[in-house]
Amino acid sequence: MSAGSSEAPRRTAVLISGRGSNMAALVRAAEQEDFPAEIALVLSNRADAAGLDFAKDHGIPTLVLSHKGYSDRLAFDAALDAHLKAEGIEIVCLAGFMRLLTPWLVERWRNRMINVHPSLLPSFKGLHTHERALEAGVRVHGCTVHFVRAEMDEGPIILQAVVPIEPGDTPDVLADRVLEQEHIIYPKGLELLAAGRLTVEDERVAIAGAKGGLKPLVVPAV
Ligand code: GAR
Repeated sequence: MSAGSSEAPRRTAVLISGRGSNMAALVRAAEQEDFPAEIALVLSNRADAAGLDFAKDHGIPTLVLSHKGYSDRLAFDAALDAHLKAEGIEIVCLAGFMRLLTPWLVERWRNRMINVHPSLLPSFKGLHTHERALEAGVRVHGCTVHFVRAEMDEGPIILQAVVPIEPGDTPDVLADRVLEQEHIIYPKGLELLAAGRLTVEDERVAIAGAKGGLKPLVVPAV
């Protein structure tokens, strides 16, 4: 527990499948004093996930749970759930975890499992969000932190960050611009959840102590 806080940080697992840059952002945030969550486990369904090395370097227990060893999705999810329980996990963060979870698992972790997605949901669910935003010609794009529900990339929205789309943007340039914001809002979303500042009612999220009064933004500036 960090100095100054009266409660133990919430034991949090981060589930990854690859690069793990969002997981790294969560780990760095949780290393700060008084952060209300600790990253107690990084779990990957792929042994070659690059993010595992980062977690090990930061002294975080890691686990590879390959879906290939299980007969179906439910069997994999039951094993996953058992590991989370055994580690005393209270919050789960999906961070580029590229597997659909069963409704059974999602329900067990209802309002305790969050995800980051690289679009302003409910626009552009699924893959290739940056290409699709450019194709659609939207002026703003961004990312979303949300509670996980059984449907892919659905669930009550906690935070969103908006970025402008600039002339000449490529999917890669846009992806970098959005990823920078993911690394800001995902730790913030975890912090809010772990600190008990979120409530979900009628599938809408209320944030205790959130400030209103933001100014509208016209994009592009003309
Ligand atoms: C991130 O951009 C994340 O938003 C996205 O995968 C990437 C993982 O990168 N997740 C989804 O598309 C979920 N629907 P990372 O491994 O470097 O965090």
